[in-house]
Amino acid sequence: MWILGVILHALYYISPAYCANAFAVFGFGPPVDGGRSWRGKRILGDGKTWGGLLIGTTAGTLFGLMWYLLSQSGPLAQVYYNVFDFRIPDPLFGMYLALGALAGDMTASFVKRRLGIERGRPLWGVDQLDFVFGALAIAYLFVPTFIIPEEFIALLIITPLMHLAGNQIAYLSNRKKERW
Ligand code: CTP
Ligand code: MG
Repeated sequence: MWILGVILHALYYISPAYCANAFAVFGFGPPVDGGRSWRGKRILGDGKTWGGLLIGTTAGTLFGLMWYLLSQSGPLAQVYYNVFDFRIPDPLFGMYLALGALAGDMTASFVKRRLGIERGRPLWGVDQLDFVFGALAIAYLFVPTFIIPEEFIALLIITPLMHLAGNQIAYLSNRKKERW
């Protein structure tokens, strides 16, 4: 049961980042790098759009806000407290996680382009975990609490599995060109 608690709590905490990352695939509009290259290679590539940042941030922020409101008062608050053991102190915690997730994702694209890996081609490990590291790093700056080492490790194991499952959906609905 202890391990279940760790997994549940970790997933709960990271959920706005998952949300941001998932909704970013509905991105649209001009690429963040404006189509520019650096040393003959795209800075970020066409896979990072302003629309993706907008949708991802909005989705993650709203998701975090929902958790926050559920935890504060009303009939669910006590159930919530019993299950998760704490209340979220900041209504914007979802926004921090979302922005961190998207920043981590863009950092990974930047590194991939520098390595000569084209947009959409895989870089195993990095593709699956970039946004978790980004999200936790930024969230930690604003809300340095909650996540314990065991939970972090749980996320490193569970996230790639969920990511792969999610990518199958994105691929099958033609949102992604590659299956990974
Ligand atoms: N997306 C977007 N804007 C973002 C992030 C993602 O529009 N800021 C959309 C793009 O359509 C992208 C898709 O979500 O193709 C999947 O995201 P991701 O796997 O991160 O991008 P890739 O296309 O694989 O590109 P990269 O190689 O740079 O990771
Ligand atoms: Mg990708």
